[in-house]
Amino acid sequence: MAAPLLAFTFSLLALASTVHSHNITQILADNPEYSSFNSYLSQTKLADEINSRSTITLLVLNNGAMASLAGKHPLSVIKNALSLLVLLDYYDPQKLHKISEGTVLTTTLYQTTGNAPGNLGFVNITDLKGGKVGFGSAASGSKLDSSYTKSVKQIPYNISVLEIDAPIISPGLLTAPAPSAAVSNITGLLEKAGCKTFAGLLVSSGVLKTYESTLEKGLTVFAPSDEAFKDDDVPDLTKLTQAEVVSLLEYHALAEYKPKGSLKTNKNRISTLATNGAGKYDITTSTSGDEVVLHTGVAPSRVADTVLDATPVVIFTVDNVLLPAELFGNATSPAPAPAPVTAPTPSPAEGPSPTAASPPAPPTDESPESSPSDSPVGSADSKSAKSAAVVSSPSLFAALVTVFAVAVSVSL
Ligand SMILES: *[C@@H]1O[C@H](CO)[C@@H](O)[C@H](O)[C@H]1NC(C)=O
Ligand SMILES: *[C@@H]1O[C@H](CO)[C@@H](O)[C@H](O)[C@H]1NC(C)=O
Ligand SMILES: *[C@@H]1O[C@H](CO)[C@@H](O)[C@H](O)[C@H]1NC(C)=O
Ligand SMILES: *[C@@H]1O[C@H](CO)[C@@H](O)[C@H](O)[C@H]1NC(C)=O
Ligand SMILES: *[C@@H]1O[C@H](CO)[C@@H](O)[C@H](O)[C@H]1NC(C)=O
Repeated sequence: MAAPLLAFTFSLLALASTVHSHNITQILADNPEYSSFNSYLSQTKLADEINSRSTITLLVLNNGAMASLAGKHPLSVIKNALSLLVLLDYYDPQKLHKISEGTVLTTTLYQTTGNAPGNLGFVNITDLKGGKVGFGSAASGSKLDSSYTKSVKQIPYNISVLEIDAPIISPGLLTAPAPSAAVSNITGLLEKAGCKTFAGLLVSSGVLKTYESTLEKGLTVFAPSDEAFKDDDVPDLTKLTQAEVVSLLEYHALAEYKPKGSLKTNKNRISTLATNGAGKYDITTSTSGDEVVLHTGVAPSRVADTVLDATPVVIFTVDNVLLPAELFGNATSPAPAPAPVTAPTPSPAEGPSPTAASPPAPPTDESPESSPSDSPVGSADSKSAKSAAVVSSPSLFAALVTVFAVAVSVSL
C-alpha cells in the first residue's frame, strides 16, 4: 500500500525540482560555437536571470562575433552589452518576418536594470528587403549593424534563441566607467540610498574592511534602510557585544556575486560573511512574482531596491534588519536539514518574541517547523505554480511529510 504513496510523494518532489522551464547554459552547451557567449552568461550571472524569465528571446553571438567584446572590456560592461541581447518578448523566425509595418522597438533586460540611460535599453528590429532582418540600438540615428543569421532553439513561447552576426552597441555602452570608481566608496553609495545607519555601523565596527576584502572576488550586500533600524522589532544593538555586532553586520553580505536573477533562482542555503561552520549564519530565499524574500530563521525581509549592480559587486536595500537565528532566535531552527519527525504539528515553542517580527512585511513567522498552511507556500500570493514551487525547501518538505502522513492514515 505504501509503495504507490511513496511514488506519489517522490513525483511531487521531482515536480518541485523541475521548476525552471529552461536552462540556457544547457541549451548553448549543445553548440560549441557559442562557448564564449555561454561562458560570459555564467560569469555575469545573466544565465540565472534568463532562466528566471519566460516569453523572451536571446540573441546569441558565435565565438567569432563575440571576439569584439570578450576580454576587451570590464565584466560589468560585457554584462550590459549582453543584457541588450535579451529581448523581453518572444520572437521566433516566423514572427521576425511578420513585424507589423516592418519595424518595431522592443524592450530588453538592459532597460530593466536601471543602467540604461533613456531609451537605450530598447532594440530596433527591422524587416529589411530580401528577407534580411536587421537589429540596432533604438537611439535615433543608429544603424542596423546586426543581422539575423539563423535560429538556434525555440521552446514556444518561453524562450527563443536566435543568432545574430554582431553585438548591438547603444551609444556609451562600451565606454561606461569601470565599476571600481563607484565601488571604491561603498559608504557613499549606501548613504545616498538611505542606509546611513548601516553605513555608520560598518565604519565604526571595522566590518567595512571585511566587505572590501572580497570586492574583487564578488560581493553582495543587503543593506537595511534607516527606517528598518527604527523598527520596534530590532533588538537593542547596544546590548550586543562587539563580536556580536560584527557577526550581525557580516551577516548582511555574501562573498559572492548574487544579483537579483540569481536570488530568484536560488534553491540553496546561502552562506554569508558571518558563516563560521556548516549551516551557521546562513540565509534562504523565496520568491513571489518578481519579489525576493530573505529568510533568516527569525523573520523575513524583502529585497527592496538594487543600489548598484556592477559585476562582481551588487548592493541591495532590504526592508528589515536581518536577524540571524544564532543571535536572536531559538537554536532549533537553523539546522541544515529539517527533522522529518516534526512535520504536521506546529511547533509549540517558537522561541522568544523576535519571532513575531516585521509587521508590514510578508506574512507569517519563519520557523521551518511551522505547519504547511503557515508556510510561504500557502500565504504568498501564488500567482503561478512557479512562485509557489521556488519556496524554501524546509516548508516544502513539511508539506510533503504532511501529504504522506495523511495519505498513510487514509490507507490504514
Ligand atoms: C514554459 O514555462 C512555463 C512556466 O514558466 C512552464 O510551466 C512550461 O512547462 C514551459 N514550457 C515548456 C515547453 O518548457
Ligand atoms: C543548467 O545546465 C548546466 C550545464 O548542463 C548545469 O551545470 C546547471 O547546473 C544547470 N542549471 C540548473 C539550474 O539546472
Ligand atoms: C528602426 O531603425 C530604422 C533605421 O534607422 C528606422 O528607419 C526605423 O524608423 C526605426 N524603427 C523604429 C520603430 O523606430
Ligand atoms: C563618498 O561619498 C560620500 C557621499 O557621496 C561623500 O560625502 C564622500 O566624500 C565620499 N568619500 C570618498 C572617500 O570619496
Ligand atoms: C530553544 O528552546 C528549547 C525548548 O523551549 C529550549 O530547551 C532551548 O534551551 C532553547 N535554546 C536556546 C538556544 O534558546
